Amino acid sequence: MKTIIHNAKQVITCAGDRPKRDESMRDVGMIENGAVVFERETITAVGTTPEIVASHSADQMIDASGKVVCPGFVDCHTHAVYAGDRLDEFEQRIQGKTYMEIMAAGGGINSTVRATRAASVNDLSTQSIRRLHRMLRLGTTTFEIKTGYGLDWDTEKKMFDAMQMELETGLLDIVPTFLGAHAVPPEYQGRTNDYVDLVCEMIPRAAHYWRLDPLINVPIFVDVFCEAGVFSVEQSQCIWETARKHGMGIKAHVDEFKSLGGVTAAVEADAISVDHLDVTTDEEIRVLAASDTIGVILPTVNFNLGSTHYANARGMIEAGAAVALATDLNPGSAPCPSMPLVMAIACRYQKLLPAEAMNAATINAAYAIGMGDHVGSIQVGKQADILIVDAPDYRALAYEFGVNLVERVIKRGVLFEGS
Ligand code: NIG
Ligand code: FE
Repeated sequence: MKTIIHNAKQVITCAGDRPKRDESMRDVGMIENGAVVFERETITAVGTTPEIVASHSADQMIDASGKVVCPGFVDCHTHAVYAGDRLDEFEQRIQGKTYMEIMAAGGGINSTVRATRAASVNDLSTQSIRRLHRMLRLGTTTFEIKTGYGLDWDTEKKMFDAMQMELETGLLDIVPTFLGAHAVPPEYQGRTNDYVDLVCEMIPRAAHYWRLDPLINVPIFVDVFCEAGVFSVEQSQCIWETARKHGMGIKAHVDEFKSLGGVTAAVEADAISVDHLDVTTDEEIRVLAASDTIGVILPTVNFNLGSTHYANARGMIEAGAAVALATDLNPGSAPCPSMPLVMAIACRYQKLLPAEAMNAATINAAYAIGMGDHVGSIQVGKQADILIVDAPDYRALAYEFGVNLVERVIKRGVLFEGS
């Protein structure tokens, strides 16, 4: 089956063969009056409509007159598998409690841990598939998903099982991340080092879990919430070292509330990404910029926590860092499935240009989860993960908000029926 999407007002390719930084972040690879050809699940040609129509025939033609065609979004940081909600904490925060105060009092992440431990794998996967379908309708075609609401092997494994059930729907690309070091569970309160030992015992099991299935050939990462009152830099380093030993990539939640030096430590550990970066110092921005590690910015967290302070993403881009965007979808700090809303906030409060936000949400996000060779741009040989946007200019994706401009979602060459 061969398909041609033609007559697009703009084809936005976001093409690149490495993470974009500096001026290349402003280049979205636009082709006016563009066309894209894909056969089964792979893109086979990209060009102007006259060029493509003259040289290709197809089984199916899709007319994108007056519309934008762009790559599916890559959400490179989510906690999309969880049970329950945190509506009570939402009200507590409105009334003045902070996110970290709620966590220190046994709520926060640990309240979702209780709900997730109690849920059956079927419930967990049903709740999360519904969430992922909502994200697909909003244009996200590749998902990183973290564990971290189990904090014991049985429940962490149950979260992996839920991801497997999502994968079996055949619709989704999921990159799994083991986040055993998300919080210290109640049974280890006051014994953080003992819990770090348990995390290090769980790491080889997590690696083994995904290697068991040769059909699922995705990278697997290990992440740590490196934060004052959670896991220290030293404890994080211990976990990253174990991850390396077992052939897993490294990620880190750093500088969400307090700057502990986690960026430098994660860069030294050769992390693929450092995420949040809300209070990262100028000096550590320079360390990040001089490295291959990607800075992942999560502005819906600041918005959701009612903060007026946002990560200095502009400074990071100016310094030459490769920056990506993600939702951080989770029940506490960011119950948000929408990459376009993330882009809208990043443009307004972090002064990204729409072009920079677009590259950050696609090609750079793909590289932030080791998928840059397969997804994140419209390029020959890449997977046909393509959006048709009901607007004549890609900048509308960040300019308009509170509306879903994504009209059709093509995932691995197949039109997602919910779109
Ligand atoms: O990225 N900060 C740590 N982890 C998540 C929040 C998870 C939760 O609150 O359930 C985050 O913000
Ligand atoms: Fe997170």
